[in-house]
Amino acid sequence: MNLAANTILITGGASGIGLALAERFVKAGSEVVVCGRRADKLLEAQQKVPGLHTRVCDVAEVADRVALLEWVKANFPRLNVLVNNAGIQRRTQLAQNDEPWENHRQEITINVDAPIHLAMLFLPHLQQQQNPAIINVTSGLAFVPAAFVPIYSATKAALHSFTLSLRHQLANTPVQVLEVVPPAVDTDLGGPGLHTFGVPVDEFADSVMQRLANGETEVGYGFSEKSRLASRQEADAIFQQMNNR
Ligand SMILES: NC(=O)c1ccc[n+]([C@@H]2O[C@H](COP(=O)([O-])OP(=O)(O)OC[C@H]3O[C@@H](n4cnc5c(N)ncnc54)[C@H](OP(=O)(O)O)[C@@H]3O)[C@@H](O)[C@H]2O)c1
Repeated sequence: MNLAANTILITGGASGIGLALAERFVKAGSEVVVCGRRADKLLEAQQKVPGLHTRVCDVAEVADRVALLEWVKANFPRLNVLVNNAGIQRRTQLAQNDEPWENHRQEITINVDAPIHLAMLFLPHLQQQQNPAIINVTSGLAFVPAAFVPIYSATKAALHSFTLSLRHQLANTPVQVLEVVPPAVDTDLGGPGLHTFGVPVDEFADSVMQRLANGETEVGYGFSEKSRLASRQEADAIFQQMNNR
């Protein structure tokens, strides 16, 4: 992927991995729009990355997704890259759970429903652009689930599966379909302080950018690279190791 001269939308790009990628794409010479629900986080991101464009948007809402496309077409008609990065992670004990279904459904809506719908909504526009691409941010847990986040892991497996089919269906078009597969990264995912065991976000983002520039289509890092490439037997061993701590 050419990192310069793109116009890129990164969902959930006001923090964490999305912001780290946004910062690097801007530095490489691309124009970047990030969207998210919290206006204060978007403002903070803009202060950190001069030139960054922002848009308040809740990707859980179908109407917001449609409005986002219309806004992009009006304001950034040359937008050629969609990065489906927004996501949430919830820890769930399946057998001892008295939470309303709506809380769980929200995790599925944000992590699966939204990126699939956004990809389909944006495709007609992307297909008319130079060097179009869709980048889906999944997880190492798409390949080997962590049982303490069972719904999250399932959503990421679904998005990985969708990414493979999307790439296959678009193989004879100019639209590149790429997948970023993070390992545990030190961000606010799941809530502040819950992911401090992860690798530093800058280290991860630097590696992703380098590998995208090298033309790789599915990019992991460290533990997620191991999971992504594991045989079934190795994946079973990783599952045991990760879940029996
Ligand atoms: N950190 C890790 O260990 C890790 C590992 C594997 C995969 N990932 C994936 O990487 C992606 C980025 O996560 P992160 O680690 O960078 O965590 P993060 O800092 O919490 O970033 C997630 C971003 O998504 C946005 N978001 C959440 N729900 C949204 C919605 N309904 N509409 C619009 N934006 C929404 C959040 O902003 P608002 O709350 O303001 O909307 C936030 O900026 C996620 O897809 C995550 O699953 C992370």
